[in-house]
Amino acid sequence: MTAQPTAIHRRDYRAPDFRIETVELEFDLQPEATRVKSKLAVVPQTPGAPLKLDGEDLELLSVVIDGRKLAPADYKVDEHGLTIPAVPSVPLTLEIETKVNPKGNTHLSGLYQSSGVYCTQCEAQGFRRITYFPDRPDVMSIYRVTIRADRKANPVLLSNGNLLEEGSLSDGRHYAVWHDPFPKPCYLFALVAGDLAVNEDEFVTRSGRKVALRIFVEHGKVPRTVYAMDALKRSMRWDETRFDLEYDLDLFNIVAVSDFNMGAMENKSLNVFNDKYILADPDTATDADYAGIEAVVAHEYFHNWTGNRITCRDWFQLSLKEGLTVFRDQEFTSDMRSRPVKRIQDVRVLRARQFPEDAGPLAHPIRPDSYIAIDNFYTPTVYEKGSEVIRMIHTMLGEAGFQKGMRLYVERHDGEAATCDQFVAAMADANTVDLSQFQRWYSQAGTPEVTVEGRYDAQSGDYELTVTQIVPPTPGQPDKQPVQMPFGIGLLDAQGRDIALKAEAAEMPRPGLLNLTAPKQTFRFKGVPEPKAISLNRGFSAPVIVKAKQPGEAQAFLMAHDSDAFARWEAGQQYATELLLARVADPSRPFDPAFIEAIGQTLRDDKLEQAFIAEAITLPSEDYIADRMAVVDVDGIHAARRALRLEIVSKYRKQFEETYSRNTTPGAYSPDAASAGRRALKNAALSYLSELADEEAGLRRLIFDQYSKADNMTDRAAALRLLVDIAGEEREAALADFYQRFADDALVLDKWLMLQAISSLPDTLDKVRSLLKHPAFSMQKPNKVRSLIGAFTANALRYHAADGSGYAFHADRMLELEPINPQVAARLLAPLGRWRRFDAGRQEKMKAELRRVLAKPNLSRDVYEIASKSLEN
Ligand code: BES
Ligand code: ZN
Repeated sequence: MTAQPTAIHRRDYRAPDFRIETVELEFDLQPEATRVKSKLAVVPQTPGAPLKLDGEDLELLSVVIDGRKLAPADYKVDEHGLTIPAVPSVPLTLEIETKVNPKGNTHLSGLYQSSGVYCTQCEAQGFRRITYFPDRPDVMSIYRVTIRADRKANPVLLSNGNLLEEGSLSDGRHYAVWHDPFPKPCYLFALVAGDLAVNEDEFVTRSGRKVALRIFVEHGKVPRTVYAMDALKRSMRWDETRFDLEYDLDLFNIVAVSDFNMGAMENKSLNVFNDKYILADPDTATDADYAGIEAVVAHEYFHNWTGNRITCRDWFQLSLKEGLTVFRDQEFTSDMRSRPVKRIQDVRVLRARQFPEDAGPLAHPIRPDSYIAIDNFYTPTVYEKGSEVIRMIHTMLGEAGFQKGMRLYVERHDGEAATCDQFVAAMADANTVDLSQFQRWYSQAGTPEVTVEGRYDAQSGDYELTVTQIVPPTPGQPDKQPVQMPFGIGLLDAQGRDIALKAEAAEMPRPGLLNLTAPKQTFRFKGVPEPKAISLNRGFSAPVIVKAKQPGEAQAFLMAHDSDAFARWEAGQQYATELLLARVADPSRPFDPAFIEAIGQTLRDDKLEQAFIAEAITLPSEDYIADRMAVVDVDGIHAARRALRLEIVSKYRKQFEETYSRNTTPGAYSPDAASAGRRALKNAALSYLSELADEEAGLRRLIFDQYSKADNMTDRAAALRLLVDIAGEEREAALADFYQRFADDALVLDKWLMLQAISSLPDTLDKVRSLLKHPAFSMQKPNKVRSLIGAFTANALRYHAADGSGYAFHADRMLELEPINPQVAARLLAPLGRWRRFDAGRQEKMKAELRRVLAKPNLSRDVYEIASKSLEN
C-alpha cells in the first residue's frame, strides 16, 4: 500500500475560505467523453487564502479567471484536486472545463450511466467527480444548468429547479436549461438524461399552488409507478398537516434507475431512486416492498425541508438530516399504518443492525468525531439510532412541544447549513428546557444498559424501583457519562390493569414516564396494590438494553395483558430469548409450558390485529440470540430455535391450520396495511407448519401449492422462502419455475438470488458460487451484489461454516468488487469485523481474511477504513 489514508476530524472544522454565489454548468453529454464547463462566481472570505478545489478522476481541460486563461504554472493539480495559490481577494469569475467518462464510471458516484441513462449521484462527495469545486455542504450556491445531448438517445433532459428553456441543436442534438432558485450545496445537484417514460400527476398544496409531479422510469414500467405516486402525494399532504411544511417549487421529479449505490437520493426537486423503491405491482412486489416504497418516497420527499432547505454544516452533522428524516418517515408510516406494528419492526431493525454496530469495532456516536471515508458513515447508528434520539426528544417534549421546537428550528436556520447542536438548542429554547445532559447522546457511542430491580413492601404498600445505567466502553471512548432518557414503565395489577402511579414531577414528568439521569436512581410509588408484573421501556421509549429479572409467569402475564402493545410483544421476545439461551447452554432442557401457552393465547386473541399477532408469534432471530452470547454458537442457536418452533407447531397445529385458511382471503390483491397484516399472519402460520414439512409430503404440497397458485408476489415469495430450506423436488421445481416466470425482470430475480443465498441447506455456498456465473448476476450492479453476496453473509449458519469457507468466499468477492465499486464493497465488508464474537478457530480465520483484504495494493479509503478498524478494534 502507498501512504495510509488519514482521518478527518470534527474539531478541525473551519468556515470556507471562499463562497460560491452562483454555479453555471454546461454539459455536453457523450457516453465516454462528456465535457463539463463550469462558471463560478467566487467571493473570497479570507484574504490571501489559496483557492483549493476538490476533484477526482477528472481530466482538466482549462482554467480561466476573469477571462484570463491560466498557464499550468499558475495552478497545481493532483489526484485530490486543483489548487490556485494566488487569486484576487475580490469577487472573481472562475471558469473550468473538464472531461469525464460516464460509461466507464463503475463507482456510480458522480456522472454515470445506468442502462444507458445518464444520471448523477453527488452525496456525499460525488460532485468532485464531475468538476473541480469546494465539495462541502456549507458552500451553497444558485445553480443554472445547460444540458446538451443526442435527442434520439436522450429525449428527457432534467436537472434541479425550473426548466427555463429547451430547443434543438445541429447534428440531432438538443438542449435544456434548468435554474434552481434555492441556494444548495453541490451534493444536492442532479442531472438525468435518457429515454424514459413518465407518469404525470399533480398536487395542490394547502395554500392552493399546483405542483406538477413526474415519475420517470424505463419504458413499459409506468403502470408500476402508481403506488409510488400515491405515496408521494400522501407524503406531501402529511408534511403539511403534521409538520406545517409545504412544498416550495412548482414541480417535483423522481427518476428510477436500476444501478444505484443506495436506496434513493433527495436532490432538490429531482430525486433519484433505486428502482426497487419505485416499481411495484401485485405480481412482482411483496407487501414489504410496498411498505419500503412508501417509506423511501416519503423519506426523500421530507428531506426537502430537513436536509435541503436546512442542510448540514459539515458531514459530521449527517444525523441532523438523516436521523431527523428517518424519524419523520417512521412517523409517517405510523400514521398511515399500524403504529405498534411499525414500532416493533423498527426496533427489530435497530437491534439487528445498530446494536451490533454499537457493540463492535465500528462503533461511533450518532455525530462521529472522525472519519476516513464519509461514505462509510451512512450507518444504522447515524440513521436509526439518530432517529431514536430525535424520538426521545419528541417523547420528552410531547407532540406540541416538539412541533414548537421544529418551527423555531426552521425559523432560525432556513437557508442555512446547520449543526446538531443548533437543532437541540431550538428544541430546548422553544420549550425552555435544559437538554445539556441529553446532548451526550450525540457524543457517546455504545448502547446503554439499564438494570431494573423492583421491591414491594406489603406492609406499607410501597413499591420501590431501583434503576441503574451503564454506557459501555467503545473504541476510543473508555469512560462514559450517564445519559438522560425517558423511560416508560407500568405496573400491572392481578387483573392485568395498569396501577395508577404518582411520583415527583422531576422524576416522572408524565404518568408512566421516568426521567433517568443518574447512574443509579430509586423511584418510590406509595400505596399501590402488589403488582403482578412490571412493564419496562414501554414503547421502546429509550434505545437501550434492559436487564431485569422477572419470573416466566410474569412475562407470560405481560404477553397477555400489557396495555402497551410494544411491551406486550417485547415480553414475548425476552421470554423466548431466555428460553433459547438456556436451551443452547443445555440442549436437554425443556421449554417453559407457560411460554408455549402464552403463544397459543396470542394466536387465539381476536382483539389483536393480524399484523401484530404475526410479529408476536415470530421468535427472536438467530442473530438476536447470538448477540446475547459471550461466544456465539451458530449451530446450537439454529437447533434451539427450530426445536422451540417445532414444539409450538406440534402443540397448535390445528390452530395454525385454521389461522392459515381463515386469513387466506379470496379477491383482488390490495397492498393496504390490514390486507398485508392478514397475509403476514397467514404466512407466519405457514412458516410454523413448514417445520413439519420435512416429514410430511402433504405440507410440502401445501407450500408448493401456495407457491404456484399465488396471485401475488407476497404469497409466492413467502412460500418460496420456506421451500428453499426444504431439500426435494418441490424446492427445485419452484426455483426453476420462478426463474422462468421472471427471467426478464431484474428486480424479481434479485429475490431469486437472495432466497437461494439465505437457504439453510448445507450446499448453499456451492449454489451461491455457481450463481456468480449466472446471467442474473453482475458484479457491476449493487442490487445484484447485495442480493447474492450480501444476503449470504447474513446467513449465519452457512457464512460461519467452521472450515472458514464462507469467510474466504466473502473476502474473495470483496477484493473483486473493491476496484469496481469501493463504496459498496466497504458497506458489505462489516460482517468480517464481528470476529470477536466467535470461537478462537473462527476468529483466526476471519482475521486472516481481513488481513488479506488489507494487504491489497492501492486499497480505496472506503475499504481501508472498514478493514483496518475491524482488525484493530
Ligand atoms: N441521502 C440519502 C442517500 C445517500 C446516502 C446518498 C449516502 C449517498 C450516500 C437518502 O436520503 C437516504 O437516506 N436513503 C436511504 C433510504 C432511507 C429511507 C433511509 C438509503 O438510500 O438507504
Ligand atoms: Zn436520507
